[in-house]
Amino acid sequence: MERFVVEGGAVLRGEVTISGAKNAVVAIIPATVLAKDRCVIENIPNISDVTVLFKILREMGATVRLLGKTTVEIDTTNIREPVVPHELAKYLRASYYFLGSLLGRCNRASVAMPGGCNFGVRPIDQHIKGFEALGAQVSIDYGMINAQAEELIGAHIYFDVVSVGATINVMLAAVKAKGVTILENVAKEPHIVDLANFLNSMGADIRGAGTDVIKIHGVDVLRGTTYSIIPDQIEAGTYMVAAAATGGDVLIKNVIPKHLEAITEKLSKAGAQVTEYDDSIRFTRTGPLEKVNIKTMPHPGFPTDMQPQIATMLCKANGTSIITEGVWDNRFKYVDELRRMGASIQVDGKVAVIEGVECLTGAPVRALDLRAGAAMLIAGLMAEGTTVIEDIHHIERGYEDLTGKLNHLGANIKKVTVPEEQVAKAL
Ligand code: EPU
Repeated sequence: MERFVVEGGAVLRGEVTISGAKNAVVAIIPATVLAKDRCVIENIPNISDVTVLFKILREMGATVRLLGKTTVEIDTTNIREPVVPHELAKYLRASYYFLGSLLGRCNRASVAMPGGCNFGVRPIDQHIKGFEALGAQVSIDYGMINAQAEELIGAHIYFDVVSVGATINVMLAAVKAKGVTILENVAKEPHIVDLANFLNSMGADIRGAGTDVIKIHGVDVLRGTTYSIIPDQIEAGTYMVAAAATGGDVLIKNVIPKHLEAITEKLSKAGAQVTEYDDSIRFTRTGPLEKVNIKTMPHPGFPTDMQPQIATMLCKANGTSIITEGVWDNRFKYVDELRRMGASIQVDGKVAVIEGVECLTGAPVRALDLRAGAAMLIAGLMAEGTTVIEDIHHIERGYEDLTGKLNHLGANIKKVTVPEEQVAKAL
């Protein structure tokens, strides 16, 4: 079993370069099956979610070839069966984007129920509503989601909730539907726009991505393309918080500052000094950390995927901060781990009240999911003493070399392997 061992007290200083956006690439890789052609994708992050998606493509008959450290060539000319089995789908949420893309390509798809972070119930009713409106029949049998249609026909679809996943999945199916599809009340995250740009570069006709309404004129054929993934907004935000939390001075390179505005605003209120450049942003903090109230919302609101990291930072702020989770029902499970380190946090449903404390102390904690795992690393940096983090595979799903990049900024984090027998003995 692998763990991270974090020595507390580091002040982060220096430069860090942000990788390609996880939540964009996990939609764009499944989208390549729409092409029956060769796509070259650049700025791919080296994360385990991407490795699993490559495996799914290869199992289906596509060829996937790395052309460089961050560039991949995917040829989806030969897809045998439009099926993604449980053994692969279970690792990540985004495996279900193959439903939309395979439905668009083959008019049928079978994908096992997806995995991903556990924030309580994660329904897929809006995905199904969208596929059905396009003319597909959808059923869930023996853990497989099956969708098929004689032909897909454009439709007017109003989503009942703003959903990133449903917007992406239905967009993937609708690009090849006959006629016009109008999607209303859609998600507006940067990765929605990135996917639309990727599909348009393949010959799709999608307008309005990034607004509340997306209009898609279906096309018969999509062709291969070369495309570069946008920088990861949440990875950048995580380093911004780490810099502010440790009272550091960090230049974060390869970012789109516009995507970071909601995070920047809250960190400034908490006492960080921010300087924006064209494609980089510098964070320093010399004064005290101050309390801030935050409510997470769909984009352009404060991103839920930054909630655990900023809540962790606020554990040592002056005063009491209130965090309201506006997207997920159950995204405060990690708070118990922070309490082991001396944090003072009360949770009532979707609201956490954080009373700032003088100091956190190192403790054994678990990475309960991807962003909660990043939060534990930040907590470890802020704490006195040593923090040992278990279940680090969650972190490696979505951050490229998070500990290497933090160590380059002055952190002291080691990855250690504990033999399974030793773990069993300790239980
Ligand atoms: N929802 C429904 N019905 C649906 C779909 C969603 O009720 O059919 C609800 C959810 O229960 C939730 C809300 O709508 O309350 C928003 O869910 P959404 O569908 O937007 O989330 P997602 O697509 O499953 C993506 C990201 C998450 C991120 C959320 C919100 C990917 C692969 N995942 O999830 O990212 O938290 O959007 O921004 O893009 C992460 O990267 O750590 C992560 C969890």
